[in-house]
Amino acid sequence: MTKPVVVAVANRKGGVGKSATAESIALILAELAPTLIIDLDQQGTVSSILCPEHKDENTSASLYKKPAFLSAYPATQRAALDTADRVMIENLHVSTANKELEGIQKMATGISIFGLQKAISAIKDEYKYIVIDCPPNGSDAQSMALMVADYLLVPVTHDMSSMEGADELFTDLNVVIENRDSAPTIGIFLNIVSHQSRSAYAIARTVVEQKYPQYLLDIEVPHQGTAATARSAYFTTAAYAKLSGRKSKPVEALKEIVQKLKITGE
Ligand SMILES: Nc1ncnc2c1ncn2[C@@H]1O[C@H](COP(=O)(O)OP(=O)(O)O)[C@@H](O)[C@H]1O
Ligand SMILES: [Mg+2]
Repeated sequence: MTKPVVVAVANRKGGVGKSATAESIALILAELAPTLIIDLDQQGTVSSILCPEHKDENTSASLYKKPAFLSAYPATQRAALDTADRVMIENLHVSTANKELEGIQKMATGISIFGLQKAISAIKDEYKYIVIDCPPNGSDAQSMALMVADYLLVPVTHDMSSMEGADELFTDLNVVIENRDSAPTIGIFLNIVSHQSRSAYAIARTVVEQKYPQYLLDIEVPHQGTAATARSAYFTTAAYAKLSGRKSKPVEALKEIVQKLKITGE
């Protein structure tokens, strides 16, 4: 295989749906080819949902070791609504995260932003796609992700601070990009869009349109009650929708985004 296609999901604001997005994109891509999702957030949201069995083993904190490396574990998910039993998700591995990431970041000095790039090149033949769930704190971990991303997906909500989070992210990207040969393909999209907040989202769209017309996608990811329920019960959005007999509108919208940006090359 050639170099994996790397999709990073980032915004310096928390709660905009980065983890939910990364998780769904990873599931979508894993239906096509071997995929790795890298949890770079010390909150470990993605790890709790996709790999609780290995949350406390070798984590993404290994990116701060010399030499930097990644450990990948098989992804699993809850098998049914009424059981804690878990089943494997085909074609998907997880590099997990927990509080260790925060501790090691505090201690690390002189960390190279190339750590993730090096770690990925060591496993590049194993995966066609790599999805990265970035932390909201603009840490070195985020910079490492910005170094390797071919695609940068930026969810924003109607909350103005999520727009500020996007601004801060692009400031970080401008620093990192000096070390890259080319810029990533960027897609900003309105996320968790609900009818109740329609006018707030209309304002948000106008703001993004004025600032980043070249990046704004015309696909919105809707709010869906089952998406929120899913994640509070440690289900992936897609699995919960399937088990409760509903189509996942957020996952369908993300599929459209994957197609629109030609992430799978078609
Ligand atoms: N499409 C959606 N519909 C409803 N709730 C959602 C949707 N996407 C995310 N959420 C909920 O929003 C909250 C924040 O999402 P999360 O992915 O954890 O954000 P972040 O990683 O940016 O902090 C979570 O409670 C999640 O379940
Ligand atoms: Mg998160």
